[in-house]
Amino acid sequence: MADYLLCDYNKKLMKSKSTRDPRKDKKKDCTSEPVCSGKRLTQAAVRKFREMIYRHYRRHGRSLPWRMTHNPYYILVSEIMLQQTQVQRVMGKYEPFIRAFPDFSSLARASLRTVLREWQGLGYNRRAIALKQIAQRVMKEFQGKLPSSVEVLITFPGIGEATAASIAAFAFHTPTVFIETNIRRVFIHGFFHDRTNIRDAEILPLVEQTLDTSHPREWYYALMDYGVMLKQKQVNPNRRSAHYQKQSPFHGSNRQVRGMILKALTAESYLSEQEIAQRLQIPFEKIKNNLDQLEKEGFIERKGNRMRVV
Ligand code: ADE
Repeated sequence: MADYLLCDYNKKLMKSKSTRDPRKDKKKDCTSEPVCSGKRLTQAAVRKFREMIYRHYRRHGRSLPWRMTHNPYYILVSEIMLQQTQVQRVMGKYEPFIRAFPDFSSLARASLRTVLREWQGLGYNRRAIALKQIAQRVMKEFQGKLPSSVEVLITFPGIGEATAASIAAFAFHTPTVFIETNIRRVFIHGFFHDRTNIRDAEILPLVEQTLDTSHPREWYYALMDYGVMLKQKQVNPNRRSAHYQKQSPFHGSNRQVRGMILKALTAESYLSEQEIAQRLQIPFEKIKNNLDQLEKEGFIERKGNRMRVV
C-alpha cells in the first residue's frame, strides 16, 4: 500500500476549513495537486456506481457484530482482529474477547498470558501484544478514550494507515479514504477492466471521488460486501493488483510453530525448550529458533532453562 499517498489523502480531508486559506482553496485545481491526478469520474458515473453498491448492500449486506456498535474500543478490537484474518474466524473470537476484556481498562490490566489465551486461533499473535499496548497508552495518556484523529491513531502500535482510517470511519464517522482487500477488488473490477499491475495509488483517487461522505460507515460496509461477492463469483480481480500476494502455506510454517508454542506456554506455567520440542513433536532446532524470536519480540521470558509467557 502506498502509505505516503493515503496519508496525503487523509491529511487533506482532515484539514479543517477554519485552518485553510480560502484564497489558496480557490486557486487549487486537481491538475495541480498530485493526490487528484488520474481518472476524474463524472457525477453520473459516481451516482451509478454508488447505486450499484448500495443496491447490493440493501439485499445482501452482512450484519456483523462489530457493525452493530459505535463503541470505539469494540471497533478497534474488531479492526485489529480483521487484519489478515477472515471474517468467519473473527466471528468466533470477537465476542468472547470483548466479554473477557470489556474495555480499555480491563485489557490494559490483563496479563499477556490471558490476552494470548483469548487470542488463540486468530494467529499473528503480535497483534494481541499491540492491542494490549494500545489499551495501556489509551489509559495513561488519553483518559481511557480512543483518539479520533488518524494522525494520532497511526502512532499506536499495530495501527497502520488503513486501520487508522477505517477506525476513524467506523467509530467516528469521519470520511477517510482507505483501501483494504475487498475494497481494492471492487475498484479493480469496476474501473480497470483491461489492466494488470494496478497500483493502490491509482485506485485511491477513485475511492475518494466515490466516497459517500455523509455516510462513510455504511458506504465502506457496502463496498466490502460487494468485494466479498465478487470474490465468490469470479476469478479474483485482486490478482491484477500490483500488491497481490498469495498467503504462504500455514502448515509447517514458523507461524504455525509459534502458535503451537504459545498455546503450550499459555496452558502451563513454565516449560523447558526440550519439553516444548517433545510435546509438540517438532525438531529441537526449529523450536529453539522460534523461542529465541518470541523472546526478542517480548512474548516470553526465560528463567534458567525454562520459559514462560510474560
Ligand atoms: N466491517 C467493518 N470492518 C470490516 C472489515 N475490516 N472487514 C469486514 N467487515 C467489516
